[in-house]
Amino acid sequence: MAVRVGIVGAGLWGGNHAVALKDHPGCTLSVICDQDAARAQALADRCGCAWTTSVDDVAASDVDAVTVATPDHLHAAPVLAMLAAGKHVLVEKPLATTVAEAQAMVDAADRAGRSLMVDFHARWHPLYMGAKAYVERGDLGAPVMAYARLSDTIHVPTSMLSWGSQSGPEWFLFPHTMDLIRWLFQREPVEVYAKGTRGVLERRGINCWDTIQAIVEFDGGAIATFETSWIVPDSFTNVVDNRITVYGDRGGLEVKNEPSLWAFTDRFHTPFSSTAVTRYGKAWGYQYEPLRYFVDCVGQGVAPESTGRDGLVVTAMIAATLRSLAEKRPIRMADVLPAV
Ligand SMILES: NC(=O)c1ccc[n+]([C@@H]2O[C@H](COP(=O)([O-])OP(=O)(O)OC[C@H]3O[C@@H](n4cnc5c(N)ncnc54)[C@H](O)[C@@H]3O)[C@@H](O)[C@H]2O)c1
Repeated sequence: MAVRVGIVGAGLWGGNHAVALKDHPGCTLSVICDQDAARAQALADRCGCAWTTSVDDVAASDVDAVTVATPDHLHAAPVLAMLAAGKHVLVEKPLATTVAEAQAMVDAADRAGRSLMVDFHARWHPLYMGAKAYVERGDLGAPVMAYARLSDTIHVPTSMLSWGSQSGPEWFLFPHTMDLIRWLFQREPVEVYAKGTRGVLERRGINCWDTIQAIVEFDGGAIATFETSWIVPDSFTNVVDNRITVYGDRGGLEVKNEPSLWAFTDRFHTPFSSTAVTRYGKAWGYQYEPLRYFVDCVGQGVAPESTGRDGLVVTAMIAATLRSLAEKRPIRMADVLPAV
């Protein structure tokens, strides 16, 4: 029987959830929820399903599973409501912007006996899946060092998001790279030391960090530098700048996630990957696969990878980054998340 699914949050990314799910075999997209009625209705009309402005309606409905794409700092309330109602939940990254909320969601999923998956979609990117295969074969040996950059042009906090001040490049972007390196290293973080800069976005009324570099030490001594910026000039070729390097004691690898379609029209640029969905009706690509995988896991009664616990550790790594920036000293992960 098809898995009945609801979506909470019908903004930019909730729209992508709908694109992924509306024609997925084994899934019936039943209801779209957004507190903004016009958004909920517009997306529901495109998908041919019901809509509501009330999270409680979704909790009370007969859906088996819910995907949550509310702003970064507003994940906990809908996720907790859905788990309490016995729904399986996929939530956008970051799981939460506080360790307490992230822990509460993990605990609630355990209590309810329901799956809680975090949409760390880099794990579904063909290049990163390729990197993971090298690691799993042991070709790199033990992890030694990594560098991971994920930055956005200033368009994202100033024009794309309306809630940049409640998030920041650390909450919006570090979840992808911190989860990715922890997944590739297969080690837990033990200490974080960070430096950052502010001012450019504050002068434009957005109260968050402009740039951050965080050095994380992992179990066994491996180190990783995570770099993020939300002030890359709009003249950059793509809205996203992403690359990683991983060294082990026997081998290394490098991923430059650069689209190879170069366009020179009004300016020189490369299209953002989710703009290039498809011309043949069905969306495909790494942004969509985690949604479909989640629904397949629910349908098969299997616990998905990319779990709430992964989300909790990543939220704690970012919380440690912010504490390090505030206190100007290295922060032990155990002081932020005792059970790490
Ligand atoms: N995986 C990725 O690469 C990626 C990319 C962009 C956004 N995201 C994530 O997706 C999430 C949403 O981002 P977005 O860009 O779509 O934001 P958005 O502002 O475009 O959309 C959020 C929507 O949530 C609605 N909303 C807020 N609180 C609600 C509530 N309690 N009940 C119902 N609706 C509510 C808002 O009205 C809005 O329509 C964020 O966590 C973001 O980090 C992920």
